[in-house]
Amino acid sequence: NETQTHFPKDFLWGGAIAASQVEGAALEDGRHWSTADALPYGVFKDVVIPPPEDYLKKDGIDFYHRYKEDIALFAEMGFKVFRLSLSWSRIFPNGDENEPNPLGLAYYDDLINEIRSHGMEVMVTIVHFDIPLNLALEYGGWSNPKLIDFYLHFAKTLYERYQDQVKYWITFNEINVTLEAPFNGAGIQGTKDTVDKSTLYQAIHHQFVASAKAIKLGHEINPNFMIGCMVANSPYYPLTSNPDDVMEAMKRDRETLFFADVHVRGKYSAYMKRFFKENDIKINITAEDLQIMQENPVDYISFSYYMSYCATANPEKNNQELGNVKTTVRNPYLEISDWGWQIDPKGLRYALNQFYDRYQKPLFIVENGLGAVDELVEDGQGSYTVNDDYRIKYLEDHLKQVAEAIEDGVELLGYTSWGPIDLVSNTIAEMRKRYGFIYVDRHNDGTGSLKRYKKKSFNWYKNVIATNGESL
Ligand code: BG6
Repeated sequence: NETQTHFPKDFLWGGAIAASQVEGAALEDGRHWSTADALPYGVFKDVVIPPPEDYLKKDGIDFYHRYKEDIALFAEMGFKVFRLSLSWSRIFPNGDENEPNPLGLAYYDDLINEIRSHGMEVMVTIVHFDIPLNLALEYGGWSNPKLIDFYLHFAKTLYERYQDQVKYWITFNEINVTLEAPFNGAGIQGTKDTVDKSTLYQAIHHQFVASAKAIKLGHEINPNFMIGCMVANSPYYPLTSNPDDVMEAMKRDRETLFFADVHVRGKYSAYMKRFFKENDIKINITAEDLQIMQENPVDYISFSYYMSYCATANPEKNNQELGNVKTTVRNPYLEISDWGWQIDPKGLRYALNQFYDRYQKPLFIVENGLGAVDELVEDGQGSYTVNDDYRIKYLEDHLKQVAEAIEDGVELLGYTSWGPIDLVSNTIAEMRKRYGFIYVDRHNDGTGSLKRYKKKSFNWYKNVIATNGESL
């Protein structure tokens, strides 16, 4: 088929996980609690300190001990890149130590070697929703500028140690989520409605400064590093063509675009200055902060994409439904997942074009996938599988739109699906919501053998990668 789109020949296919959702071994080898442990029931539920005796993240999917088996399975699918985060509190258990925990580093040495031994690129998210709990409790999380130095010390430790093995770095996972879930994103206790807005935007500013300084530092250590930002990208469509709805969609889109704008342009956009003024938000931003931000833009922009949102200016209709972390109004043209997330493959093409038009920087899709209830059934060969045609359809529909966006001219470095192996969900901290190509026998009540089984989608994705997307 001559009109078929071709993915670039060095396109980075792979999968993405986060430490707190897979590793388990919560207190092993010197690790201490992180903010993720203090959210045992999900990001919108209460902070629980100390965490309860039994919560799913405590053992996760036992990736800490089973990573070799899991990485071999990713290699079997042909992954070119594997995205993971390194648990900050495994390396600096309280976050404010000078010396790293040698056992924590030894674990990541082995893990990163294992990934590299299969020929995969490594992409490290420096912080993925888990900061040492001590930094939240004793310092007030990212509201405190001291976090910038603790973070840079952590980043430097990783950069120096893994400079020859890791090329792709992300400074913060879904940095815009801090606005919706302050403890999850920034270790600040309270909800988006109770935390004072100046405190919240000050914390975000500290993260921007930390991100820019980490980009500078990384490039000094290895100029070949590719260091990017990461946002949760769910574009808003206006519910109707009423100009008020269109303006509402623009406004809500900017809640996300703001984060990428700062990372790319190195400054606050004019619309944010107006927003701060009109909402009496006061932030301390120094000339030095602005200079460092201006001089150190990101090398690429990465984002997660699960859904699009819809906006209306009608206050009675707006904000009714919870999506990933934000609220939306139902789009009458879209179907929803088991968890009410709107399924919109074309929205991914839209998002890719919107970002590329706006920034003209390489993009990377670092999360995408379908969280669904899976049923393990006999595979007729003495083992078990999941016939997850719904997941194959979701991913195939999205990847076809990715191909369209590439044809549109978008420069896209790669695609890592979220949770290539089932893991503990972030928003609701459950096992029942599964994303994987690999099923993990573990359930919400903590029971299960932890055995891994290939789902039908395993071979499907393997074939997509083997054909570099031609099979789509
Ligand atoms: C993103 C996060 O928000 O979405 C992941 O970066 C998370 O950590 C993923 O797991 C899917 O969300 P959930 O709530 O289904 O796990």
